[in-house]
This record gives sequence, C-alpha cells and structure tokens, in this order.
Amino acid sequence: MGRSVYCVVTAAGSGSRLGNPGPKALVKLAGHTLLHHALRSLEPLDDLAGVVITAPGDHLDAFTAIARTASLSYPWKVVAGGTNRQISVYQGLQGLLTFETGEGIVPAKDPEAIVLIHDAARALTPRAQFQRVCSAVASGCPAVVPATALVDTVREIAGESFCRAGVEITPSGATPDRSRLRCVQTPQGFAGDVIFAAHEQARKESISEDGALDDALLAAKLGYQQYFVAGSMRALKITYPLDLKLATWLVENPEQE
Ligand code: CTP
Ligand code: MG
Repeated sequence: MGRSVYCVVTAAGSGSRLGNPGPKALVKLAGHTLLHHALRSLEPLDDLAGVVITAPGDHLDAFTAIARTASLSYPWKVVAGGTNRQISVYQGLQGLLTFETGEGIVPAKDPEAIVLIHDAARALTPRAQFQRVCSAVASGCPAVVPATALVDTVREIAGESFCRAGVEITPSGATPDRSRLRCVQTPQGFAGDVIFAAHEQARKESISEDGALDDALLAAKLGYQQYFVAGSMRALKITYPLDLKLATWLVENPEQE
C-alpha cells in the first residue's frame, strides 16, 4: 500500500464568467455534469482514502445525488463551501479530518498523508497529472504545482493603462521574460501537515481577502518550497463558454494530449 491520498474538490463557485444559471459544477459537458467528470477523473487513483466536495450551500442535495450516481469506489462527502475559494478549501480540509482511518490509512493532517486540492472546473484533468503531483509529494516535495508554459506574451500594467475614448493614457509596465513564467493548474499536492498549517495560518491572518491566492502560495508564505511538475491542456479550467466547446472536443478525442 502506498501513502494515503486525500482530495478536496472545490465546486462551490457560481461560474459567473460561464454565464449559466446555477452553479458551474452542474453545467453539462458531453452528457454529464462537470462535477461528474471531475469525480470520475479521480477514480483511477491509487490509495484514495477520502474526497471532500465543496458545494454551494443551497445545492448540497443536488451535488450529493451526482456523487451517488457516479459509481465512486473511494469514500466521499459533500460539504458547504464558502464565499470565496480559499474559504471553500478550508471547509473542505475540515471535512477531510473526519474520514475513518482504518489500519494502514493515515489521517489527512499527518505528514505522511498526501493532500490534493483540485478544482472541479478542471474536470478533464488526466490521471497522469494526478500521478505526477502525488509522486512528487511522495518523493519529499512539500508543495507541488502542475504548470504549463504561456502562449501569449505578458505585459505588466501600471494603474489605468486601458484606452478609453477621449482619455490620453501613457502605457506603462514591464514585459516579463516569458520563459520564466508559468500558468499554474490543479491538483496542487501537499504533505498533509503543510496544507493544514498553510490554511490555518491564512485564515488567522486573512492573507487573501478575496481568496485569490492559490494553495501552494499559502504554503510558500509559511516558508515551504514549491515544486513544479508538468500540467496539461486537458486540465484547462473551464471558465468561459468557449472553454466548454473545447472541453467537449477533448472528451470526443480522448487520445489528444
Ligand atoms: N470555488 C469554490 N468556492 C467559491 C468559489 C470557487 O469552491 N466560493 C471553486 C469553483 O467551484 C471552481 C474553483 O474554485 O471549481 C475555481 O474557481 P473558478 O474557476 O473561478 O470558478 P467560479 O468561481 O465558479 O467561476 P467564476 O469566477 O467565473 O464565477
Ligand atoms: Mg471564481
């Protein structure tokens, strides 16, 4: 038996940029909800000891029904998320603490446990990506982030740099060296004690009022080194309607990396 793996699947967001009525995780992709796809994507993982799904507080029953019909072989539960992603992850971590730990299964908060924080919005994340993250944590990396290279050149802007009719603006800001930049994805993986400490500290300090910091950054603020593994196109975060089209194509073309 390998190291116990736990996962928080964040799915409590509203999906305002997708523009559908109701939570994004309930949006259909190739006949199933994004939540169903995300939960099924975890199915092939070894040593999965518990999964907590964060749901909008007024959709707990609907989310539970989807998990029930997804034929999941791992233990799971649904909890209410919060008003931003950071709060939802914290609630999810609290949910991880109450899974039964039988013989050989270490509790989620133990340094020996591997805890993944994953967004349901990345519903098509391949098994290999989960495995890369888990392997890196198992080899001793305290905080692991899957990442991809950028397609576009990135420019930093300062102040109001967008053109508006009748307003003269001096564009300002640097162009960072793209080869040193990465887009970060999920699942992010952690030694159990690291991710609990990071979120407990963030909560104490209100580090991220708007919940914009990702989990590895919270761990980095405690001094833990972040390590990167390869992310993938399939782990795209379904955000806009066009992403849903692309994701549909990816489901229809499973061989495409
Ligand atoms: N999330 C969450 N709780 C929140 C906000 C977001 O659990 N209060 C989850 C989302 O469900 C999603 C992940 O965090 O799986 C990443 O968030 P994002 O893709 O931004 O989803 P939404 O916040 O739902 O979308 P939007 O920002 O367009 O409203
Ligand atoms: Mg959001």
